[in-house]
Amino acid sequence: MVELNTVIFDLLYLLSAILFIMGIKKMSHPRSAVLGNLLGVLGMLIAAGVSFAITLDSEAIQASLTLPIGTIIGAIFVGTFFGTMLATRVQMTEMPQLVAIFNGVGGLASVLVAAASLKASAESVLPVEVLVAGGLSGLIGAVTFIGSGVAAGKLQELAFFKKSIPLPDVVRHLLNLLMLFGCIWCIYSMITTGNVTIYFIGICLLGSALGYTLTTPIGGADMPVVIALLNSYSGLAAAATGFVVDQPVLIISGSLVGASGIILTSLMCKAMNRSLLNVLFGGGAASSYEEDEAVYATVKRTTAEDVAVMVDFADRVVFVPGYGMAVAQAQNAVSDLAKLIEERGATVEYAIHPVAGRMPGHMNVLLAEADVDYEQLKTLEEINPAFDEVDIAIVIGANDVVNPEARKEGTPISGMPILNVDAARQVVIIKRSLSPGYAGIANPLFAAENSSMLFGDGKAMIQDISTALKEF
Ligand code: TAP
Repeated sequence: MVELNTVIFDLLYLLSAILFIMGIKKMSHPRSAVLGNLLGVLGMLIAAGVSFAITLDSEAIQASLTLPIGTIIGAIFVGTFFGTMLATRVQMTEMPQLVAIFNGVGGLASVLVAAASLKASAESVLPVEVLVAGGLSGLIGAVTFIGSGVAAGKLQELAFFKKSIPLPDVVRHLLNLLMLFGCIWCIYSMITTGNVTIYFIGICLLGSALGYTLTTPIGGADMPVVIALLNSYSGLAAAATGFVVDQPVLIISGSLVGASGIILTSLMCKAMNRSLLNVLFGGGAASSYEEDEAVYATVKRTTAEDVAVMVDFADRVVFVPGYGMAVAQAQNAVSDLAKLIEERGATVEYAIHPVAGRMPGHMNVLLAEADVDYEQLKTLEEINPAFDEVDIAIVIGANDVVNPEARKEGTPISGMPILNVDAARQVVIIKRSLSPGYAGIANPLFAAENSSMLFGDGKAMIQDISTALKEF
């Protein structure tokens, strides 16, 4: 007869799986995203609590000298402490690194759980599907762990991770293929020889090397896409581990992470008009500094006072935030200026490009932090047809996402959908210099007839405009 405990535990696992699904659904809109996050946290708390209760219930653990219960509680404490510390201290501009670290430890956890489970059943003959799942968990988990470490190191601009692999591309791709086949051979050998431990170690070593050689050559600026992909891998590794330990909630949550990560990766690639293969195997943005001087021959400078005058006469103002707004931490200053403009009777909106900044939703999160109303945030599709009715577009720290070069053939951003700010009656661009953005190319918008440049730090310039506006 099935024990009551088991039924209760299974029902609680089911509840946590439902909470994960509801959480993901709620995260699809900024208004419900916080609730979605909380539902996910609650689901995870229930799943972890049930796993802990099952562990406590197990006679093997109660009798174990090598893994006493105190050690498990200590590990939970250490994990909670570091997780909370990292998440509360991280700067918004460092969020991709944090996500990379979380993905990496997720991958490592999958490898360790699969390893422990395979080792515990090493005496018995394991079914083929468990061995395949275990092997995949070792491979994907190790790639995720090392790949995420490299990604975080590159984004943090640590010198060690700037080194490239001194091999021609063809040789490197061949080496990667060889290592992948090596892993497949190890999985096959686990099944045919029954020698699980040694081949599992082989898979983990080859997977780690693969994680390094696949991620190291990718440019630091492409890392956010790679991180979304590694996030998907961490989910797949967890799902594979779920098969090894026969844990449906792990299979469900891993599949959710795997699927959402790959959808996010594809949306990011689409918004940058890059293929995933192009991101993963090279062909990144090239610089064209020589052309800059000619492009910028007709650049006009403006001042905060002049911008305040323009704004004072405007009926419709659109802010276009980019990576520089995040660097300057100017979101609160922008929101304050927006309120001043609204008090004068003009409408204010924010044009949000899907890849403005360095991670998906970067601008939405910053503006939400500054209490900007969600209704004022307009997507590229919503705002582009309306730019010719906009009196003044204030571009703050955005560059590539407003670069008209994307409409031409043969540039590094050709085909990338952009915000059509050049169609606005007047455009003010706030940045510190004429230096290029992530794509490394000149931006003719800065020299357009209806554009003027307000050079300086994003936050300081916005505050200066507010000060000038208050004096009218
Ligand atoms: P970028 O094209 O990178 O331009 C940012 C601009 O901000 C720079 O030109 C810089 O100019 C300016 N800036 C930096 N610090 C500033 C400060 N303190 N005050 C004022 N301005 C400052 O940014 P974007 O337009 O947001 O485009 C994002 C780019 O990142 C795209 O090319 C996109 O493909 C890429 N990307 C995005 C993602 C995601 S998911 N968002 C992922 C991977 C790659 P100055 O130095 O002259 O000030």
